[in-house]
Amino acid sequence: MIAAIIAAAGSGERFGATIPKALISLGDRTLIDHALSALSAVVDEIVITAPAGYEDAIRTIAADRATVVTGGSTRSESVRIGLAAISPSAEFVLVHDAARALASSDLARRVIASLQAGDLAVIPGLPQIDTVKVVDADGYVISTPDRAPLRRVQTPQGFSYDLLKKAHASAGDATDDAALVEELGARVKIIDGEERAIKITTPSDLATAMQFLGATNEFSTGVGVDAHAFGEGRKLYLAGLYWPDEVGVDGHSDGDVAAHAICDALFAASNLGDLGSNFGTSRPEYAGASGAQLLEETARLVKAAGYSISHVSVQVIGNGPKIGSRRVEAIAALSAALGGADVALLATTTDGLGLTGEGKGIAAIASALITKN
Ligand code: CTP
Ligand code: MG
Repeated sequence: MIAAIIAAAGSGERFGATIPKALISLGDRTLIDHALSALSAVVDEIVITAPAGYEDAIRTIAADRATVVTGGSTRSESVRIGLAAISPSAEFVLVHDAARALASSDLARRVIASLQAGDLAVIPGLPQIDTVKVVDADGYVISTPDRAPLRRVQTPQGFSYDLLKKAHASAGDATDDAALVEELGARVKIIDGEERAIKITTPSDLATAMQFLGATNEFSTGVGVDAHAFGEGRKLYLAGLYWPDEVGVDGHSDGDVAAHAICDALFAASNLGDLGSNFGTSRPEYAGASGAQLLEETARLVKAAGYSISHVSVQVIGNGPKIGSRRVEAIAALSAALGGADVALLATTTDGLGLTGEGKGIAAIASALITKN
């Protein structure tokens, strides 16, 4: 049985955000989610140490992939707390930093392979590229060590369960777990690390990490329009919400023009056809689908084609309903249907002109900005 502890209890002081560093977003996911995804592919059990007060936020992200415990005041203490929550039947334990969000599953696999080959402590490291100086308190150089034998070490670091337990029994404090193992006089093996396992410490590290994510500057935009005529006795569904006391619109679907316009804008941006070609007679299961269902399926198709949805905006054009009073609720519904995308919702009348101005129906125009992954 192989277990892992993800240290995520730090506040991220040097990063300087108002939320703990583990909950910062990198691309479409939080740092802790990235770290968890990489490790859950290769270990049997994961314990995350969360910052006090953020346990539930991290539990929601972890779902059934990990156990969440409250961390301690130093990294070493957090690891000790995590270690106490690991099954004693674990043979090996990986200790990883949530801050090294992009360390790959492959790196974790190589650490484990080296443990299985007989080493009791295995850590990834990269050569020291810059020349290093030892300085005194006044900033004067004392010496220049030979950089050739130096390594910049990373996580996940792997240990036999017994050795890690022993290393932490002394309640020592160090910036990595290998240092505590070294104090016991045990041998620590270095294997090749990865550049992408960079520790995200400052906002500029986050920008570097974005490049490893392969985020491109390949943007596409699309526009979509929809209009429906009012129909007596119909219910009004608009922008993902039901609007009681309003006249609804005709049509086979729920007639949510805002949702339909967004779907077309997304199809346009991703060059995947349009509402009719995606949800027409070829897919009878979508006959009568709600606006939210169509948005969900459109977002899935757009993501499957290799895009992330950066932003969607939609403007409702008509004499009513008054969008302003339910804007926040509608944005939340649209965003949830799109898997958390950033959404803007506006409304306008047309000064009595045109079909919507004459009160014959309601229309919407949407734009979407998507990014190639
Ligand atoms: N960590 C932890 N418990 C602590 C302190 C740190 O679990 N008491 C974790 C952090 O969440 C991080 C990892 O240890 O994933 C490495 O620490 P670091 O990068 O220094 O993160 P922070 O301590 O959050 O950042 P800072 O030092 O800038 O406050
Ligand atoms: Mg720290």
